[in-house]
Amino acid sequence: MPTEQLQKLALGLFMPNCSNMPSISTHRVVKDQWTYEHNESLALAAESYGFEYLFPVSRWRGFGGETNFLGTSLETTTWAAALLRATSSINVFSTVHIPLFHPFVVAKMGATLSHMSGNRWGLNVVSGWSEREFGMMGISLAEHTRRYERTSCFIEILKKLWSAEDQPFNYECDWYSVSGGQASPVPEVPPMIANAGVSEDAKNMTARLCDWAFISTPSIDVVGSIIDDIALKAQVFGRSVKTAIFPFLIWGESRVEAEDRLASIISEKDEVATANWLHDLTAGSGSFDVFTSDMLAASGGGVHMVGSAADVAEQLIEAHRAGVNAVMLTFPEYLDDLHRFAKEIQPTLTEAGCIAAN
Ligand SMILES: Cc1cc2nc3c(=O)[nH]c(=O)nc-3n(C[C@H](O)[C@H](O)[C@H](O)COP(=O)(O)O)c2cc1C
Repeated sequence: MPTEQLQKLALGLFMPNCSNMPSISTHRVVKDQWTYEHNESLALAAESYGFEYLFPVSRWRGFGGETNFLGTSLETTTWAAALLRATSSINVFSTVHIPLFHPFVVAKMGATLSHMSGNRWGLNVVSGWSEREFGMMGISLAEHTRRYERTSCFIEILKKLWSAEDQPFNYECDWYSVSGGQASPVPEVPPMIANAGVSEDAKNMTARLCDWAFISTPSIDVVGSIIDDIALKAQVFGRSVKTAIFPFLIWGESRVEAEDRLASIISEKDEVATANWLHDLTAGSGSFDVFTSDMLAASGGGVHMVGSAADVAEQLIEAHRAGVNAVMLTFPEYLDDLHRFAKEIQPTLTEAGCIAAN
């Protein structure tokens, strides 16, 4: 579709609330990117540049090796509470592992965060996949389809707990037994719900119950077909779902300079952590089968956008044309790169009609 007929692309950040985000590499690591202070500076800068979304990563344990990739992390509901109070217009999501929380707890946290923030909070659900983390807690990982069945039940309960008209209610499933379920306050506006995942199970669940599909794609060439598939599945339920991806942006004076930078990140890949990441992430999933270890090492699973500033702008415009609604950007050096992005790439996107003027 021509750019001018599309809804504008929304900008967001996939935040570095965990150590070593986003690369599984020892190359030029910014040591304290994960700290709250750094996250708040980023959030305020992003908001000033007209960004609309902040998504965090939820992690409970690192992935070993020299980097212990994502091993130090800030919990995402408490993180969101502080950021929502520090900012005034940007939407902040929390990422929640379904098997680790009871839906009543998440409903209450979500209602609280919504009331605290003028309805700027959203929930990103993850169904769990890391044996490393769950095993450490003595929790077993269910088979893939069952994970999403549980997530569906969780969201159904959540929606009732966020809707006064639906209360009190009873709900029975393999995981939860609710009798006379009620919660107050309910949010003034139902919080946005995103699902992070891209398997058939994930897409089916997202189509029925979520507002956003937060997906990984190996290239922009294939993202359109993933989006069309989710749209078709959602149509069955008379719904539409928006799609967000998380590109990893590297740009320089020239394409060669940017490619060299990417090559340096990959050449200093943390082999142990990358292998652990790949092992857990791909178990039972299928969603990352075409990702090479080098692709994952550079971005954790985000699509690479590399080249001159003009090249990267063009790739973002391509993603928009393919139907992507939002990009949760990741950068090697978040704060510096965000300022550079606003100066060197954002104006091209505005001129092209891809994003709204700030
Ligand atoms: C964009 C995106 C963000 C994700 N964020 C997290 C996260 O913060 N924590 C987590 O444990 N898993 C996260 N995941 C992993 C997913 O929850 C999921 O387990 C993985 O994509 C495999 O699921 P699938 O087989 O349904 O695609 C994320 C996945 C994607 C695509």
